[in-house]
Amino acid sequence: MEIYLDNAATSHPKPQAVVDAVMQALTTYNANPGRSGHQRALRGARLLLSARESLARLLNAEDSDRIVFCFNGTDALNTAIKGSLRVGDHVVSTMMEHNSVLRVLKELEKSGLIEVTLLEPDGSGTVPAESFEAALRPNTSLAISTHASNVTGAIQPVAAIGEAMRRHGVRYLIDGAQAVGHIPVDVRALKCSLYAFPGHKGLLGPQGTGGLYVAPGTPLRAFREGGTGSSSESMLQPVDMPEGYESGTVNLPGVAGLEAGASLVQAQMNERMRRERALTQALYEGLSHMDNAVVYSPSEPAARVSVVSFNLDGASSESVSDYLDTQGIAVRGGLHCAPGMHQALGTLRSGAVRVSPSWQNSFEDIEALLSAVKRYG
Ligand code: ALA
Repeated sequence: MEIYLDNAATSHPKPQAVVDAVMQALTTYNANPGRSGHQRALRGARLLLSARESLARLLNAEDSDRIVFCFNGTDALNTAIKGSLRVGDHVVSTMMEHNSVLRVLKELEKSGLIEVTLLEPDGSGTVPAESFEAALRPNTSLAISTHASNVTGAIQPVAAIGEAMRRHGVRYLIDGAQAVGHIPVDVRALKCSLYAFPGHKGLLGPQGTGGLYVAPGTPLRAFREGGTGSSSESMLQPVDMPEGYESGTVNLPGVAGLEAGASLVQAQMNERMRRERALTQALYEGLSHMDNAVVYSPSEPAARVSVVSFNLDGASSESVSDYLDTQGIAVRGGLHCAPGMHQALGTLRSGAVRVSPSWQNSFEDIEALLSAVKRYG
């Protein structure tokens, strides 16, 4: 029997309600919303609006127009970063970011277009708001941080960073890939300008879905131009929210599944978070009692999302994850697309074994993982 503990990569299994919603969109609602005016297209458009409203409620956005549908978290981050920056801008971000932020920034920097400062995490595995403030320059236009590290799970002080950046008039983009759906996210309380999220992780939707929250008054250029179903007489890209940022046919079946997943998450948020914390704590304690294990995640349950990473003395992370796979347990080894974080942890060569349970896992799953790790060691 398979034990799936790789929910930070993508959530599994998808709830039946998500599967049903995708099927229904492919049959009952199948049309191109916002293009044609026939009944079928209007039904599709209503489905799209309903999904936007659900996501706006989940994130406490001002209204559904603030939510732009994207194809995944990386697409949302590219939309936010490339749509925000101008030549000569300075960006402050962190070494903890995923390559979906780091590579975008580093390529723009290499082309001589922007300047980038990457801040190191402190001993608690977070980057405090004061470090962001100290790094600001007169030309700093954007600050970016992950909500929670995809390697250690450490939750970052995003509300404090948001408060500080608003005081300094600097836009703030949060990468919510590992947080949304796992812990409550209130974009207004976080005072962020932009919040990027995938649909297929904590929100339980299908792959090929994601979104970007854009706060009112946040200027954004389109990163991808094309047909929007609006202002069709113009050869120039409309800047209307949200369709000006959604050029091309949307992934309607995916969005339908995403709405189903997000609605379940919203209804079960507290129960789900409590269970994930309890499972992750059992995992953390079991690993930290092993003499040959080094655990990289915070010890405090409230300080991390549902991610615990570790290594065993003298073993590469891939050899451990490959062994676990032979035991029917799916986890992720290697570098997790976050080279700066591995540099900070000193794990650039070994990588780390990442275990990411979801509320759907059982305590028996955690016990099975711990027993298998002991057998390997
Ligand atoms: N970004 C995903 C991860 O951290 C794929 O595994």
